[in-house]
Parts: sequence; C-alpha cells; structure tokens
Amino acid sequence: MSTKTVMLTGGASGIALLAGTCYAKEGYNVVLVDINEDALNKVKESLSEYGDRILVIRADVTKYEDAVMARDKAVEVFSTIDILICCAGGAETRLCNQGGNFWEIPIETYDFGIDLNLKGAIYFDHAVMAQMVKQNSGVIIHLGSITGAEGSSAAVAYAASKSALMHGVTKSIALAGAPYNIRCVCIAPGPVLTRDAMANMKTLIGRAADTQEIVDLIMYVASEKGAFINGTCFLADGGRYVMYNK
Ligand SMILES: NC(=O)c1ccc[n+]([C@@H]2O[C@H](COP(=O)([O-])OP(=O)(O)OC[C@H]3O[C@@H](n4cnc5c(N)ncnc54)[C@H](O)[C@@H]3O)[C@@H](O)[C@H]2O)c1
Repeated sequence: MSTKTVMLTGGASGIALLAGTCYAKEGYNVVLVDINEDALNKVKESLSEYGDRILVIRADVTKYEDAVMARDKAVEVFSTIDILICCAGGAETRLCNQGGNFWEIPIETYDFGIDLNLKGAIYFDHAVMAQMVKQNSGVIIHLGSITGAEGSSAAVAYAASKSALMHGVTKSIALAGAPYNIRCVCIAPGPVLTRDAMANMKTLIGRAADTQEIVDLIMYVASEKGAFINGTCFLADGGRYVMYNK
C-alpha cells in the first residue's frame, strides 16, 4: 500500500473522481478539490470506507489564493503532494449555456473559459510545484483535449486553453521541474463517457472512451512505470484526430 498523496482538481466528478477513487483503492491519500461543495460532501460520504485518507477541499481553481490554500491544507494533513492531476475544466459555452457565433458571445464568456481551463491549471501547478520542489519529487498531469488539437468554433477559449496545456504549459513545467525530479505530462482525451452526450462524438473506432480507460492511462503515466515519460502529450482519442486530419 502506498502512503503517497494525490491531489485532483475537479475532483467531485468525472475523470478526477474515478481517478481519485482508484488511487484510494491503491492506498493513496487523496485530496479532491472542487468548486462544488455539495458534490464534494456527497463524494466524501460515498468514499467513507477510505476514512481519513480522503480529504475534500472546496476551492475555485480560477483563484490563486484558493490554490495556495488547498496546497497548504493538503500538506498540513498529509505532509506531501506527490501527484497533482489538473482536471477541473470544460467548454465555456456549455458551462455558461451559450451558443451562436464566436463574435456574438459575450467576451466575458471567453475570459471565464481561459481562467478555468488554462489559468486554473497554471495556478495549481505554481502553488503545488513549490511543495514538490521542497520534496525534490513530484508528477503533474494536465488534462488536454482532442479539441486542443482540432480547434472548435463553438468553444474558442476551451480549444486555446487545451492547446496551450498540451504544448507550451506541459513542456515548460517539465523543463522547470526537471532539476527537482518533477515530471509533467498531458493526457488529451477524445470523447469520454463522463456525460452521455459524448457518445455522439465520432471516433475512428466508433465509440467514446470509458472513463476508466482514461484513468488507467493517467495512472500509468503518473506511476514509476511512466518515469521515462516527460514534457509530452498523449492523445487518447480512439483515432478521432487521424479520422479528420488525413
Ligand atoms: N469528458 C470528456 O469527454 C473530455 C474530453 C476531453 C477532455 N476532457 C477534460 O478532462 C477534464 C475532466 O473532464 P470531466 O468530463 O471528467 O469533467 P466533469 O465535468 O465531469 O468534472 C469537472 C469538475 O470540475 C469542477 N469545476 C468546474 N469549475 C471549477 C472551478 N472553477 N474550480 C474547481 N473545480 C471546478 C466541476 O464542479 C466538476 O466537478 C476536463 O478538463 C475536460 O476538459 C474531458
């Protein structure tokens, strides 16, 4: 059993919640960070069999002070943060319930999208890396998206943010972290069945990913087995990218 600690943003739902549950089963201390306090409380209840190894923290990834607070709380309780998985995110137009042409959607919607999807990950990287440097070890996983490779007229800030995470941010954090034994890798999924609607997105293999398939990849990359993987991005998209970019 591991006594390592994993912190997951967006931890009350979807990929992060399943990953957190799998890490708990493997004996990790698990810190689930999310803006949705009600959902976090339900998750805490549903994971009660893991007792004190589950810590839930209500925090907004778009606020740097929340990232610092979450880091400090996690370190106070568990002493280290060995793995950070930045999952909080989503398309701004979907989350703000807006549609239409790019130029007709309020600019604030795009600020929201960049704050959540790009700055949110950088804020947590920044806060948590300071701790990982002290430990002289750590792994940071970003969640990109096929949308970051394809672009999307319906979610420009989401596409831009994911693209940045998949390339500039992940590479830069890997470069900054290398002297301190800190790796950074991005996992960019195609459609994942965290929502039923994702089943409608086309892939070369004709289906969306089961959430467990993405979690398995994250856990492999973050583990010692993935020690040689650094500063790069894995597209796990059922072949969607080659389907549309022949
Ligand atoms: N599901 C997919 O098909 C898919 C595909 C590609 C990429 N991704 C990416 O994977 C990640 C996880 O996706 P998912 O489907 O599991 O997401 P999800 O919608 O199930 O969960 C996202 C969580 O983030 C939380 N959150 C939202 N805003 C927040 C904030 N400001 N601060 C803290 N928490 C906040 C939400 O409350 C929610 O619990 C996202 O970054 C997403 O863009 C998902």
